[in-house]
Amino acid sequence: MVKLSILIAFFAVASVQAKTTYIYHENTFAVDGCQKLIAKVATLFNATTDKKGFCNVKNQQALGTMTHCIEGMPYKDARQNFLLSCKKYNLTETQYLASFDNATKYITNTSDIPKFSVKKLFYLPVYLSQKKINGAWSSEVGRYHNYNRANYYGVALISYWFFIILVAGLINLAYFVFPGFVKTFKGKAVNTYRRYITLPALFGQSHGHHYLILKYIQVLIPTRFESIMVFVWVLLAIIFASVNFQQNEPNIFWPNNIEGEMARKVGDRSGIMVLYLIPQLILFAGRNNFLIWLSGWQQSRFIMIHKWLARISFLLIVVHGVGLTLNGKTLGKYESRNAQSYMQWGYVATVAAAIMVFQSMMLFRKQNYELFLGVHIIMAVFFVIGGWLHTADDNYQLWFYAASAVWALDRAVRVGRLAVFGVKVANVQLISMETLRVTVPRPAFWKPFPGCIAFIHFLRPTCFWQSHPFTIVDSVTDSNTITFYLKVKGGITHGLYQYLSKQPGNTANIKVSIEGPYGTRSALNRFENIVLLAGGTGIPALYAHALDTVQKGMAKQSIKLYWTVRHYRSVEWFYQELLKLENTNVQVVVYVTQPLLGLIAPIVNHAADLSSEEEEEEQAELAEKKSDTQESGDYVSTLKQRLPFVEFREGRPEMKQLVEEEIGAAQGAIAFMSCAHGSLVDDTRRAVAEGLNKTNHRVDLFEELQGW
Ligand SMILES: Cc1cc2nc3c(=O)[nH]c(=O)nc-3n(C[C@H](O)[C@H](O)[C@H](O)COP(=O)(O)OP(=O)(O)OC[C@H]3O[C@@H](n4cnc5c(N)ncnc54)[C@H](O)[C@@H]3O)c2cc1C
Ligand SMILES: *[C@@H]1O[C@H](CO)[C@@H](O)[C@H](O)[C@H]1NC(C)=O
Ligand SMILES: *[C@@H]1O[C@H](CO)[C@@H](O)[C@H](O)[C@H]1NC(C)=O
Repeated sequence: MVKLSILIAFFAVASVQAKTTYIYHENTFAVDGCQKLIAKVATLFNATTDKKGFCNVKNQQALGTMTHCIEGMPYKDARQNFLLSCKKYNLTETQYLASFDNATKYITNTSDIPKFSVKKLFYLPVYLSQKKINGAWSSEVGRYHNYNRANYYGVALISYWFFIILVAGLINLAYFVFPGFVKTFKGKAVNTYRRYITLPALFGQSHGHHYLILKYIQVLIPTRFESIMVFVWVLLAIIFASVNFQQNEPNIFWPNNIEGEMARKVGDRSGIMVLYLIPQLILFAGRNNFLIWLSGWQQSRFIMIHKWLARISFLLIVVHGVGLTLNGKTLGKYESRNAQSYMQWGYVATVAAAIMVFQSMMLFRKQNYELFLGVHIIMAVFFVIGGWLHTADDNYQLWFYAASAVWALDRAVRVGRLAVFGVKVANVQLISMETLRVTVPRPAFWKPFPGCIAFIHFLRPTCFWQSHPFTIVDSVTDSNTITFYLKVKGGITHGLYQYLSKQPGNTANIKVSIEGPYGTRSALNRFENIVLLAGGTGIPALYAHALDTVQKGMAKQSIKLYWTVRHYRSVEWFYQELLKLENTNVQVVVYVTQPLLGLIAPIVNHAADLSSEEEEEEQAELAEKKSDTQESGDYVSTLKQRLPFVEFREGRPEMKQLVEEEIGAAQGAIAFMSCAHGSLVDDTRRAVAEGLNKTNHRVDLFEELQGW
């Protein structure tokens, strides 16, 4: 319902915008061109006293000159257009033709008049060369068709995403409604396409996720398919901003000023194009972006696209600024324009955009996400206000209405969601010194679904405004209760960790409010074979899928849940949930990468994920210290007894091998779903892409990991 109303509101805004978007038509060019041309050649009436101007039958020098210009225009409807523009002054075609004939007798070459002044009122029709008339026409076409192109290209750039999303949405729908049909897409050609285009990471070796370039600059690399989509869009934007410019001479707008003319045209193009991108840019950054639901894509993909929309928008703004600066300088209007407030707001918007593009680098987001977010929001406000006031004089503020509406709607829905959930008392427990379990009673109608997420506000004085995304699992022990599992990191989670480690039983009750549920469902349970690959706190989403499939899925499905954890004690915080899988068709395998940790050595909390080398080192150190293994052996064997249906394996899973084995063994279509830290997810992606041809059945990959 919420989604539907957002959808309707969005299209209402879009249609208002489309209606008021100004596309110039040729039927105004002849009249406008002649008016501008004649004004540059002579003064034929007093504009303050003669309101009828060129339409005035009593002013034969003006009307006569106009008729000669209009008749010379290379446009068949020029006369009709002019007569229509004089309709309110009752000018008839007969009067028009009479004036044309009369003016032919009196027409004067102003260069023959001694001491002729363009500014002084002149009482005879003036001669206009055909070259000038043609120039006036082509100047009009050149200038206004450039505006039109900017509008069309802007529409094309935003439609690009709407179109792709529509197709993505249909494909996503097909997975649910016609899974059998989707599963027929297999075999050599399809597999080759999927192996090289849609499935792999951008580069074979690279991390699909956090990746370090030049030692310091961390980036999130999109998948190859995402990169292609973005690359084509960026290319289109660059092409649209740089092709199809005409220079027209003799020019009525910029006479003898080719530099000024071209600078203005380039600046106009990029300035108008960027207007279109702004509402979409803001839409893609929001949590209640209806396209998430339409496409089935994750929010993180929209945020990735948001970044590219933003970078290109900023580039276009810079081009616009440089173009109009050059134009102003050549015309001598630079200073006078700068003195006006619309220009100052233009500078405000540009600087705000520059700051946003710079401070949103991964480096700063990682350092202090809250600072990044705060600055980003404030700068975005300045950007929208600045842009709005910069363009209001030209009636372009409509895009900023749209942008503000999209933003306000997202915020309103967010507040609405928080209000619907209300303030609840959560039980927060620190388990195994590494994970926080948050248990919250929920309203009965507020139903989570597998893989959904919500944003938690911990209502403590130091952090109530922060909202962090976490995966929801409907509690297996209590009804109308949801649980979250938070890995302890460096910010708010670390604050809670410190607080809870001092509390009795490492437990506390904390007031929370929850915004959600967000996310899209995936068609995982439509597959005969399901392999879930979780790592650490990635387990909740995959567990929710496993349980859901058991409850609602097809009969005779094979479901395997692989969970990689650092040490045996990690299992404790998910013990109750695992227990629920006993006597179901879910096969659970737990990989313990550092089996000695937490048994003979205390668990040290690492805010960051360890690389496999670091883990091996740590493990080796522990092995040296390994003196008394009796107690630890007891712990492990007790755990295994309590979870007899779980297979424990020590060490790291070899993803390539594991995926290949699963594909080889599958008797029907098989789906992998991963949610873990970067490298495990990447290895899975790669192994799946390379393993497509190992079976005659359809192989699919779903990723639940998100990050931005
Ligand atoms: C869709 C989604 C689902 C998630 N589900 C889980 C989950 O089930 N369990 C779990 O342990 N973690 C999950 N995370 C990660 C979790 O949101 C972050 O670890 C948490 O916000 C870190 O809080 P912090 O203040 O302690 O982090 P910091 O130490 O300050 O930052 C650690 C990392 O988290 C990122 N981060 C910080 N705040 C936010 C925020 N408000 N929004 C997005 N990213 C942020 C930072 O960029 C940084 O990379 C999920 C993230 C996303 C995007
Ligand atoms: C013909 O044109 C001249 C010069 O503009 C003007 O003075 C005169 O009144 C016009 N004659 C008629 C009949 O309109
Ligand atoms: C008008 O005057 C200019 C300059 O004397 C001349 O070049 C041009 O040919 C003249 N045009 C006509 C139509 O007499």
